[in-house]
Amino acid sequence: MADKVRVGVVGCGKISGAYLGMAKNFPIVEIAACADINCEAAKQKAAEFGIARACSVEELIADPNIDVILNLTVPKAHVPIAMAALNAGKHTYAEKPLGINREEAVPMMELAAKKNLLIGCAPDTFMGAGIQTARKLIEDGAIGRPVAFTAFMLCPGHESWHPSPEFYYEVGGGPMFDMGPYYLTALLNLLGPVKRLTSSATIAIPERTITSKEKYGKKIQVETPDHIVGTMDFENGCTGVIATSFATCFSPFDWKNPITIFGTEGTLKVPDPNQFDGPVYIQTIGDSEYREVPHTFVKGYGRSVGLADMAYAIKYGRPMRASGQQAMAVLDLMQGFLESSDSGKAFTPTVPYEKPKPMPADLPFGTLDQ
Ligand SMILES: NC(=O)c1ccc[n+]([C@@H]2O[C@H](COP(=O)([O-])OP(=O)(O)OC[C@H]3O[C@@H](n4cnc5c(N)ncnc54)[C@H](O)[C@@H]3O)[C@@H](O)[C@H]2O)c1
Repeated sequence: MADKVRVGVVGCGKISGAYLGMAKNFPIVEIAACADINCEAAKQKAAEFGIARACSVEELIADPNIDVILNLTVPKAHVPIAMAALNAGKHTYAEKPLGINREEAVPMMELAAKKNLLIGCAPDTFMGAGIQTARKLIEDGAIGRPVAFTAFMLCPGHESWHPSPEFYYEVGGGPMFDMGPYYLTALLNLLGPVKRLTSSATIAIPERTITSKEKYGKKIQVETPDHIVGTMDFENGCTGVIATSFATCFSPFDWKNPITIFGTEGTLKVPDPNQFDGPVYIQTIGDSEYREVPHTFVKGYGRSVGLADMAYAIKYGRPMRASGQQAMAVLDLMQGFLESSDSGKAFTPTVPYEKPKPMPADLPFGTLDQ
């Protein structure tokens, strides 16, 4: 294999710029080509980020020079594009969620295993200094034994700012499938596997009006719960509540530290899991107030560090951190919240989970462990 892992991007919409800008910091990654069902979008991103080739999705997936398909399309296209990539012998890394349900995602995971190809999936924010520092504090026993948590993501929805917000209200959207991946991935990395969960989910605001510029005034019918409140019991004994909502305004919770982990000897304020380097605060017995804990991991990463980590995994045959297996465990939980609400019963996870290795703390920016 060449020194660089060659990546082809499918989906050149709103989030693609974050990946294309940050990917330049990782010498192991080469963004070789990009595609979109909207050819103009692909051409525009190629010009903006100096990508050598813009082509059709079919041409990109068939290109023998591409090792990894980076799938930045909308949720319902994640699995179909991943299946096409795997069938063409390519590894794939997708934006979250891994898929819109486990029924479509399981055959994809099985195909990847059969073909000995890797699946990666966002979020990679848990690889940032914020969540890594919080994880280390918990594992070092800084708050004693974790006994409880709260996690809040309460907002009005995305129709006021996203140019094409329809997908946020389709099956595979809603606050749990859109924002849940950040919160659940962070909680899994902090607390380990989940034992059971319960939930109440509703469609609180069934019709939305787009107020962003491009589609101003267009109505959206909401197909999936826009307000989900759940409880989670972790195998380590910690229990807590998670609330995700696209049906609330003026929410006063602490956006900088929306997750709190309560331990027998202290409490940890965990930074926004949708960001990389947010501040970590702790108060332990004897402290008169919360104090900020300096980050103990590399700062400055952004979306595409998970892709770079996958490139190292491909090159050196080691496990990857933002893995399909982790995203599959998250998808199982997200779907479990909807199923628990429908059935009125607790949900027991069906996908095993093991924490990935912590991030290396001592390597230069842009390089990861081999
Ligand atoms: N916008 C954000 O702030 C943000 C942040 C984090 C993650 N995400 C995730 O990133 C993904 C994309 O979100 P976005 O905001 O960039 O959406 P977007 O609508 O702006 O862009 C999606 C792009 O994918 C293309 N596309 C759709 N279906 C396709 C298909 N079948 N084949 C090829 N191209 C296709 C569209 O033409 C569009 O250009 C979603 O899964 C979303 O959850 C978005």
